[in-house]
Amino acid sequence: FEYKMNCKPSEPPFVPYYIPFIGSMVQFGMHPINFIRENQKKYGNFFTFLMFGRKMTVCVDIDGNDFVFNARHSHVTAEDAYNSLTKPVFGADVVYDVPNAVLMEQKRMVKAGLSIENFKSYIPIFIEETNQYIDKHWTKEEDTVDMLKAISEMIIMTASHTLLGPEIRSKLYEGVADLYHTLDGCFTPIHFLFEWLPLPSYYASDKAHAELDGIFGKVIKERRANPDAKHTDMLDVLMNAKYKNGKDMTDKQVGNMLIALLMAGQHTSAATTTWSILNLADQPAVADKARAEIEQMMGTKVIGKDVPEPSYEQVKDFSVLDNVVRETLRIRSPLVEIMRKVIKPVAIPNTEYVIPAGNYLVASTAISALDEKYYKNAEDWVPSRWEQSDENEGSPDKATTDYGFGATTTSARSPNLPFGAGRHRCIGEQFAYLQIKTILYVLLSRFEFSLDPKRGMPERNYQSMVMLPEGPVLAHYKRRHD
Ligand code: HEM
Repeated sequence: FEYKMNCKPSEPPFVPYYIPFIGSMVQFGMHPINFIRENQKKYGNFFTFLMFGRKMTVCVDIDGNDFVFNARHSHVTAEDAYNSLTKPVFGADVVYDVPNAVLMEQKRMVKAGLSIENFKSYIPIFIEETNQYIDKHWTKEEDTVDMLKAISEMIIMTASHTLLGPEIRSKLYEGVADLYHTLDGCFTPIHFLFEWLPLPSYYASDKAHAELDGIFGKVIKERRANPDAKHTDMLDVLMNAKYKNGKDMTDKQVGNMLIALLMAGQHTSAATTTWSILNLADQPAVADKARAEIEQMMGTKVIGKDVPEPSYEQVKDFSVLDNVVRETLRIRSPLVEIMRKVIKPVAIPNTEYVIPAGNYLVASTAISALDEKYYKNAEDWVPSRWEQSDENEGSPDKATTDYGFGATTTSARSPNLPFGAGRHRCIGEQFAYLQIKTILYVLLSRFEFSLDPKRGMPERNYQSMVMLPEGPVLAHYKRRHD
């Protein structure tokens, strides 16, 4: 028995469902990309489905992306969609727990910290942390390992060291990593759907925040007592940042913003790096091509443990690695669903539809990024499609294919927007590219990779907020020798 929601003719078509209230939650949750594609075929780029009592209006393809990313803040907001999910993780008074104008100021402050000067100082740290992980955990000549677990740890170490600073990085093994883990436990679809339930994880997150406040507070106090010491991390930038009205960020806001940045980059960058390694393991010729370009640019052999330190400009110009990351983000965009909430009825341009207040909007850039209409053999991982050649002249992203840390467009009219667009666009893109490319540089220098013959290429797992490879994510490493 199929239910059909009564909606006005001016509203987008409604996907029928079998179970009242629950609606299409299971079909959407299991495989959002298939669910959206099937309904896109039937209803077009705008349609609504029911999920646990919420009306979710899907807006896809270039028109849908543009509509969601550039919607007017007076009608459509991110904070009403996300804050119940992110507040327990990030803490109060940052990102979606402040008015949008304040978030814009906070993003401006963070952006100032993601400067080329600071990036230059991050490269040796990325290399050192990656090497440290390898020397501690990958001690054999060759072995099969859980690649997602390994890469996740490399990401948290490199990001903590560069953003939060060496003092907090050094405390990671003394319980700070467990506190992050507790906060991360609130970042699940359950917390989005059951925001009203007094889940035990909320209590745990309050406790973790109280402890982290203490740890951050102490480090901030020590730094204030030593004003002449030079730091190039985000902690330093935020401690000294000012709002337009001349006020400082409170110490608590500094700590919470750092947690937010760490969390925003953790699963997204770990998933991207892991999928990159898995695809390189599957296509070793691309790995060899990346190594050849690196050696040519560095003017020396790059093999084994003592990898030379590339300059910022060199990492930026590793074009094969750039294309590897860009192509991985195209076929495995970590954020499959971008949400907003409609707070005032909003008309979809060039259609007869008006979306009522109370509905959620769901954009999914993965739909256009995997559409044959825009990319030939769209499901295949082909990094060379991003090479600047005559053959690729007609690429839909031609205008934006500018080497150097992704540099994808900020316009919402590209089919490939893994970092979003508009006022909520990611500010961590360049940091993520630098971090991921440097980690890949070290890994490709030191190891050959192959997929586990039994597991092969993992499927996509949509059960967390960030799309990850389905575990166990096994891959094989083998040391390279001169
Ligand atoms: C926003 C993707 C890494 C910080 C976003 C958005 C996307 C995204 C799609 C837009 C969300 C929306 O419109 O609702 C990614 C991907 C990453 C990555 C794919 C890695 C491969 C990072 C890193 C940082 C970061 C490393 C911090 C250093 C942020 C911030 C926002 C954001 C602060 C803005 C939120 C807002 O204005 O609402 N990211 N991100 N991201 N990201 Fe990233």
